[in-house]
Amino acid sequence: MDYVKEIERLKKEKNAVIMGHYYQTGDIQDIADYVGDSLALAQQAAKTYADIIVLCGVHFMGETAKVLCPDKKVLVPDMAAGCSLADSCPANQFEAFVKAHPGYTVISYVNTTAAVKALTDVVVTSSNAKQIVESFPKDEKIIFGPDRNLGNYINSVTGRNMLLWDGACHVHEQFSVEKIIELKKQYPDALVLAHPECKKTVLTVADHVGSTAALLKFAVKSDKKEFIVATESGILHEMQKQAPDKVFIPAPPNDSTCACNDCNYMKLNTVEKVYKALRDEQPEILVDPEVAKEAVKPIKKMLEISAKLGL
Ligand code: 13P
Ligand code: SF4
Repeated sequence: MDYVKEIERLKKEKNAVIMGHYYQTGDIQDIADYVGDSLALAQQAAKTYADIIVLCGVHFMGETAKVLCPDKKVLVPDMAAGCSLADSCPANQFEAFVKAHPGYTVISYVNTTAAVKALTDVVVTSSNAKQIVESFPKDEKIIFGPDRNLGNYINSVTGRNMLLWDGACHVHEQFSVEKIIELKKQYPDALVLAHPECKKTVLTVADHVGSTAALLKFAVKSDKKEFIVATESGILHEMQKQAPDKVFIPAPPNDSTCACNDCNYMKLNTVEKVYKALRDEQPEILVDPEVAKEAVKPIKKMLEISAKLGL
């Protein structure tokens, strides 16, 4: 079976659109109508005219699309594609944390369940977190969750003292600063690019810190030729595509015997599963309407602020 051809046919027949995150395998990125970071995927979902969105990413991305487009069918190729970072912030525990700190504005990273977003004032992604935090007065009391590394990074670049939830992503926590320094000996001219979900030690040696889209843009524009990339390895596909003459080296994880810089959740999706999702119109993302009613507010707020800031 020619899955790519069948996907094209089903897409037209069902007025479907395929959106893919940069962490998907290259073959999925190549068949997607839109490839982007978490912010771009939310922006695309908010404005699509398609009846069906096949969100090639992880569960919380599907939820974000569903909350923004309650009348559309949102499919994820593999329902088991979760996120360790979202899992590190159960809604009931986050609610208790928020209740224990009255008077705080709650800012949540998009890597959260819809139930956590429903407890949130404004959602951010790694593309807009700094600007959105800075849009609040300097003395605003802020709770930031769930990523402690992103939260610490935003505190350091904005001079804020946000109260942080102690969550992390198992992929980004794996990168080893020692291994990166070792690799730099082999590639002395290489610039280090790091996602803000990485640990502080890794961010300290980075030449550029940013979301997947920001790292891609930086690498393409830079006049340097070699880059050590400390984020999930899927981004290398688009980097190599947009800058074929440059060299992209995946930053090594702590344990060189594992493929820990691959997100095992993101990589659950396959082209075959995309085809089956379109054919069967499942697995479908469903969000409790009461939760969705609250969760959509901070997501829309993020999109509004991003639009105003030209992000
Ligand atoms: P961005 O898409 O915002 O770069 O975030 C990366 C990520 O970890 C998605 O799960
Ligand atoms: Fe979640 Fe980390 Fe995978 Fe991103 S890379 S989806 S934060 S587990």
